This record gives sequence, structure tokens and C-alpha cells, in this order.
Amino acid sequence: MYKQANWNKELIFEKSRSKRIGYQIEELTSEDRKRVEKARTNISKTILRESLPKIPELTELEVIRHFTRLSQMNYGVDSGFYPLGSCTMKYNPKICDEVASLPQIQHVHPYQHPSTVQGSLQIMYELAEWLAELSGMSKVTLQPAAGAHGEYTGIMIIREYHATKGNLDKKTEIIVPDSAHGTNPATASMCGFKIVVIPSHEDGCVDLNALRAAVSENTAGVMLTNPSTLGIFEQNIEEIISIIHAVDGLAYYDGANFNAIMGKVRPGDMGFDIVHYNLHKTFATPHGGGGPGSGPVGVVKHLESYLPVPTVGYNQEKNHYYFEYNHPNTIGKIRSYFGNFSVLVRAYAYILRLGNRGLAAVSEMAVLNANYMKKRSQDIKGFSVIYGKDKPCMHEYVLSARDLLRDTGISGLDVSKYLIDQGFHPPTIYFPLIVPEALMIEPTETEAKEVLDGFIEILEEVSDIAYSEEKSRILQAPINTSVKRIDDVKAARNPILSFKMLEEKE
Ligand SMILES: Cc1ncc(COP(=O)(O)O)c(C=O)c1O
Repeated sequence: MYKQANWNKELIFEKSRSKRIGYQIEELTSEDRKRVEKARTNISKTILRESLPKIPELTELEVIRHFTRLSQMNYGVDSGFYPLGSCTMKYNPKICDEVASLPQIQHVHPYQHPSTVQGSLQIMYELAEWLAELSGMSKVTLQPAAGAHGEYTGIMIIREYHATKGNLDKKTEIIVPDSAHGTNPATASMCGFKIVVIPSHEDGCVDLNALRAAVSENTAGVMLTNPSTLGIFEQNIEEIISIIHAVDGLAYYDGANFNAIMGKVRPGDMGFDIVHYNLHKTFATPHGGGGPGSGPVGVVKHLESYLPVPTVGYNQEKNHYYFEYNHPNTIGKIRSYFGNFSVLVRAYAYILRLGNRGLAAVSEMAVLNANYMKKRSQDIKGFSVIYGKDKPCMHEYVLSARDLLRDTGISGLDVSKYLIDQGFHPPTIYFPLIVPEALMIEPTETEAKEVLDGFIEILEEVSDIAYSEEKSRILQAPINTSVKRIDDVKAARNPILSFKMLEEKE
């Protein structure tokens, strides 16, 4: 029986006792005090604090216990199955963290002279080369700090491409399929484009007729996710790209789902012009809760000059790595320094460790696991696969609880709450939007068959209970967790996100 750690829920501010301390620092000498006072006079009054900051006062042991217990109340990939579709919550080998923690890596500063950080530059140079090789692109920037940031970089390149040709007043539209991740249309819109949404065919692929109807001389480009967020490999890819290229549009590949294709197929060979990768998903950086991430972007040869500056170059004769600023059409710098270096190092270690064959095996296993789960779960009463029902899926699939809701009143959300109670992180729910009561399941390559079976058995149990007299058991879940069923609407409409807000409320 699963039982999540459930400790005393006092907030750290409530545990605080006046004058309790966890450290001791030496009293300031009168000389020091004078120096502090002098320094204060140099600081503008408008930014000087009147009172001391409100920081909880605790001993070291209290702090250690508080945070250790909080971490035990949490759920993560290291504690259990986390099939959050589209997020690739796979196990991240600890060796990658170890490499990223080496003092030689941790103690470098991005403003050091390149001659003093040749090793770091070599890591960046080689990683960019490997990513280019994996995707069939010509050159890669490592600057973007997330997938969505990579999209922003890519779409700004599309914009600049049309601008340098003097066509920007005409090239005003970006085409996005209705199954796309929300960041795709949001990014294109942020970059000033109008979004043209095209529907998916019932086999989950882009509806070619709708695409042809949508494309015009205003088309600046298309953003495609392949495999799509429905977990389906787009079959008409070459045709889609030739339709886009025929009007001088560019084809952007959202590579967030790279875990399904590594070492198997390459977006560059499919005809794409720009690709982003989510290193924090595919290449072993623990993620969730907003970071840290990394979303490098690769481009084909004729777009190299648009990449952000600098990239890392290598002079073979002098065996010397350097920052390359010579990108005549550059969209500029898109992040401070040169990217999230520690994430880059983890990806470097991961790729080096697995090698070509290892990376291909990752994708094979991720796809096999998803197909196994799809096959076993789509026949459970109340559940079905709506798009691509009879096709193999790639690394993920979208199960619908539409019939379960219609027959029993148990929704996808209820199913998820019950899964939590049994020790499983729920899948992504209610996305993609085109699938009613969607449960988007991505098992990843790192899970054993017994774990997948355990998850499926819970879905079977949910179905049995939902169609019985006992369905209130599902509606009450979760009861075995530190946080029980919350009022989602109230949480969204009336969030209390800090102790200060709580105090104000009370
Ligand atoms: C298909 C797809 N594209 C883009 C993104 C955006 O990536 P990030 O969350 O790193 O910004 C995601 C994230 O889940 C995704 O699944």
C-alpha cells in the first residue's frame, strides 16, 4: 500500500522563534562597523531597507529537518513512475550530475578569458557538433534556456530571414497544427506573426487538404512537432515541407519529442530548416517546476548567419576554441552569457556515455514501452485511443477517458487523483486539447515492464470501481498523500502563494 510521507505541516515561518540562530558570526569590530556605515552612505536611500528582512529564526537542525521532510513529501522521478506525457520525465543518470559538479566545471566564470576556459569551450563546441549531427542540421546555438526559448530563437530567425529579403510585410503568417504544444502558437504570436491553425486528420497526422488551403504567399513558415503531441509520427512530412518551401516558407521542427527518434531519423533529412532540442528532457537534466533547462537550436547551412552571437568556433591549426561573432544576419544575443552551462555539461556527459548505438537504443526502448502500454490500456472498459487507434505510437500516446466519464461520471481528473493515491504520478491530462478527457502517457525508456504493468493494473482497477457501486472511492482520492484532494477552481482563482499572502488573508 502506497503512503506518502506526511509530516507536521507547520510552515518554516511558523516554526520560527525569536533570536534562535543556526550560525554564529564574529562580532564586527569598530573598524568594520565604520566601513559598513561608510558603504551605506554610498547606497541610494531609495533602495536602503528601513527594517531587518523577515527571515525565519531557527537552528541548523530545525532547518535540515524542515527541508528534508519537505523533500520526502515530494514526488519525483527518483521516487516513482512519472509518465507525464510530452515532458519525458525519465531517469537522469547520476553520472551526469557528478560530471556537472566537478570543480573544474562549477568554478568557471562566463566572463573568463577564453584562453583560460578552453575545456569548457571544447565541451560546448563538441556538444553543438553532436546535436547538429543528431538532427542533420549544419550549425547549432546553445544559448536558449528552454524549449519555448528555442522556439522564440527559431521563429525570430524565420522573421529575420524574410526581413533581409524585404518580404516581412508580406510574410505575416505561421502555420501550426491543432495538436501543437501551446508554446508553438504563443511563440509565433510573440514574434509578431498571425497564427493559422490547421486540423489533424483522424489518423493524427496533418490534414493535407487543410494545409494546402491554408498556405499562401503570406506563409512565413510552419511549426511542426514530430512525433506530434498525439505520439504519432507524421507520415506526409516531405509533402508538407515541399508545400511550405514552394512559397518560400521555412519549416520549424519542434524537437521536444526527440526521445522518440534519436539515432533513427533526422529532421534535416526530412527537409526541416530549423530544429530545437529540449536538453532537459532528452539529454538527462532533471527538470520540472520551471528549470533549469536548455533549448539549443540547429539550422541548415543557409540560415547559419542568422544564429545568435556568439557561437563557439575551433581553430584546428592552433588547436584553439574561441567565441565566433561573425554572423552577418544575426538575430542578436538571446541570453546572458552563453546558455545554461551545467545543463550543457549533463547533455555532453549523457551523449558521450551512450554513444550512437546507446542513443538509438534509448529511442527504441521509449517507443516499445509506449506501444506496450497503449496496447494494454486501450481495451480497458471506459478508455480508448481516438487519434491513430490502429497505428503504432511513438514514445507516447493519448488515452481518452471520454467513455468512462459518459458512462460513470468519473473524469480524467478523477482517474489521475486515484493514480496519485496508488503511488503513481498521473499522466498529463486535458492535453492535447483535441482529445476529450485526455490522459497523455509517456513511459520513457528507463522503466521496467513491472512498473508499466503496475500502472495498467491501476487503470483496470479504476475501470472496475467506476462501473461498480463503489465509485465514490475514486471521487475521494487521494487519501494517502500529504495533500488531499484540493479545490482546483479555488486554487486557480484564489491562489495563496506565500506566507505573506497567507498572513494578509488571515
Ligand atoms: C512539444 C513541446 N514543445 C515545446 C515545449 C516547451 O519546452 P519548455 O517547457 O522547455 O519551454 C514542450 C514542453 O513540454 C513540449 O512538450
